[in-house]
Amino acid sequence: MIGVLVSGTGTNLQALLDAGLPVAAVASNRFELRDYASRTERDTAMADWLEQQGVRVVVLAGYMHLLTSAFLDRFPNAVVNVHPSLLPEFPGARSVEEQLAAGVAESGATVHLVDEGVDSGPILAQERVAVLDGDTPATLHARIQELEHRLLPRVVGELCAR
Ligand code: GRF
Repeated sequence: MIGVLVSGTGTNLQALLDAGLPVAAVASNRFELRDYASRTERDTAMADWLEQQGVRVVVLAGYMHLLTSAFLDRFPNAVVNVHPSLLPEFPGARSVEEQLAAGVAESGATVHLVDEGVDSGPILAQERVAVLDGDTPATLHARIQELEHRLLPRVVGELCAR
C-alpha cells in the first residue's frame, strides 16, 4: 500500500491513481507542525497513521516539509520524492525559476529516495526536457510535470513490486 504526502495541487497524486496503484492514504495539511510539540512528534504521528493504513511505500508529491529520521527510519528505502530538475542540480522550492534564471538548455524530472536533506538522497530515475525560447516558469514546469506523471508511477510501481 502507498501513502502520498501532498502540499500542492495533487497532479502527481492523480497520476498515481490513474496508473491504478494502490494508494491507501493521503495526507496534506492534516499534520500541521503547530499541532505538535516538535517535528519529531509530528513525524512519529504521521508514520503511525500511515502504518495503520498498511502503507509500505511513501510518496512525496509536492510535499513542502522536510522529514526527520523519526519518519524516514519507519519506511527504510521506501520514501520517494519527485522534483522538477535534473538533480543534484537545482534542489529547493524555487528550482524552475532558478533554472530559467541560470539559462540552462535542459531541465527534467527526478525521482529519488528521500533523506533528511533538501532534495538529496539516491536518484532512482530521471528524464530530460529541453528548455525552449520564451519559456516561463509556468510553461517549463508544465512540460516537466508531463515527465513527472510518467516517471513517478513507473518508479513507485517498481518499489511496490519489490
Ligand atoms: C511537482 O512539480 C514536484 O516536482 C514538486 O512539486 C510539484 C507538485 O505538483 N516537488 P503536484 O502537486 O503533484 O501537482
